[in-house]
Amino acid sequence: MAAGPRQAAAPPPRTAPSAALPPGPSVPRFVQGAVALTSAQRGMRRMRDRYGDAFTVNVPIFGHAVVMSNPAEVKQLFTARPEMVDNLDRNLGRVLGPGSLFALAGEAHHRQRKLLIPPFHGRRLAAYERIVQEETLRETAAWPQGQPFPTLPSTMRITLNVILRAVFGAQGAQFDELRALLPRAIKLGSQLAVVPVPKIDLGRWSPWGRFWAMRREYDAIVDRLIDTALHDSALDERDDVLALMLQSRYDDGSAMSRDEIADQLLTLLAAGHETTATTLAWAVERLRRHPAVLSELADEADTGGSALREAVIAEVQRSRPVIDLVGRQVKADGFQLGRWSLPKGMAVLVSIALMHDDERTFPNPRLFDPARFLAAKPDLYQWVPFGGGSRRCLGASFATMEMNVVLRTVLRDFRLEPTDEPDERWHSRGVASAPADGGRLVVRRRTAGLSAQVPARTMGTQSTGAQS
Ligand code: HEM
Repeated sequence: MAAGPRQAAAPPPRTAPSAALPPGPSVPRFVQGAVALTSAQRGMRRMRDRYGDAFTVNVPIFGHAVVMSNPAEVKQLFTARPEMVDNLDRNLGRVLGPGSLFALAGEAHHRQRKLLIPPFHGRRLAAYERIVQEETLRETAAWPQGQPFPTLPSTMRITLNVILRAVFGAQGAQFDELRALLPRAIKLGSQLAVVPVPKIDLGRWSPWGRFWAMRREYDAIVDRLIDTALHDSALDERDDVLALMLQSRYDDGSAMSRDEIADQLLTLLAAGHETTATTLAWAVERLRRHPAVLSELADEADTGGSALREAVIAEVQRSRPVIDLVGRQVKADGFQLGRWSLPKGMAVLVSIALMHDDERTFPNPRLFDPARFLAAKPDLYQWVPFGGGSRRCLGASFATMEMNVVLRTVLRDFRLEPTDEPDERWHSRGVASAPADGGRLVVRRRTAGLSAQVPARTMGTQSTGAQS
């Protein structure tokens, strides 16, 4: 690796005495909060340039928090034992329910993860490819030719439908009900994740009251889904995650409760729907501005290869990570993290964007260059769009498969027109950041091809009109 100009990007010196906290700005909390809200990306870069790759901020919600982007320190953080470092107290788990992976810590988190890993790996993933291809063909069948349109509403519908089918195992009326309810519930829930929970339910007059009403509706639908599955004589032949959850057992032989299943399904949707859709919109935004890569990619899709497509997806996630920060909280006093000694309760935020923008790890980081990942797979402690360690994204392989199949299907059926428009800006949607114009796309259909083979709809729904 070439030496970069920022001395602070170097690995922590082994013999350095540990300082208490990294340096940081001393302006009041509300000013730092305003900067974080209005220009998070630029603000982070400015602080990294000024203070180095670890700095302390003081922002609303977290109070004093350390922001890190030194790969060695981040690796130490991700691999620390849960007694020392675990999840943030204030996170999405507050709205997703006490059984959500986001809400669980320590042994309870480990126990739940062990049960949920099998559905997201190996043979299971191959079974979901067909669903992804069907949903992509169904959605793209209505794409206008020769006129610009934002990709994001389409990718939001594809990823929502895929999760409802592959994860919830939903069909018919329940599929339609969940499709109408969940995007609204997740949007409100992600806004409420950091808002204090009121002691009483003020009903539809308060945001929490509205959220709880939606949650009751959701629980009733999931109850019906579970009843249907338990009466399904072919349950053991089903591949959807709900069916697998119902048949799985903890080490002591007990089954997941209905509440645990409901919380976990909601978690998978909240974590996997918008993140995958926004990354796909960024892929379109990046590819249209890099015609040489786009053309090679189309050739590869025709000949059945996938190496470049995989490298493109990795480079899109490096250069346009849709989640800015991954959070942890120090659980024991005086935790030594590289050069620093952190007090119990301190929030530590890993800046994914700053790690991916480090020229010592990724030379010429502002250049979109999938070739970086052609020869070697990404190092999972330097390339961290899915976070890391024992809390790394559970759906990473699922998301990678899904993005791969969506792109392959689109490239086989359409020619994506390049553009010389300026890069789209970042737009924060709450959970994930999307291209501000939704990844504007202009396409021409290449053949009558694959879309003619879309199977008859089995779910009684139209591809358009869902919430995006
Ligand atoms: C491109 C798409 C995706 C991105 C960028 C993404 C990113 C992330 C990140 C940054 C985390 C936090 C990791 C950490 O704290 O170290 C996370 C956690 C998680 N993600 Fe994803 N995710 C994606 C897709 C998915 C999908 C498709 C699913 C499931 C269907 C999923 C399920 C989860 C779950 C359950 C967690 C919590 C893991 C735990 O706490 O143990 N994600 N994801």
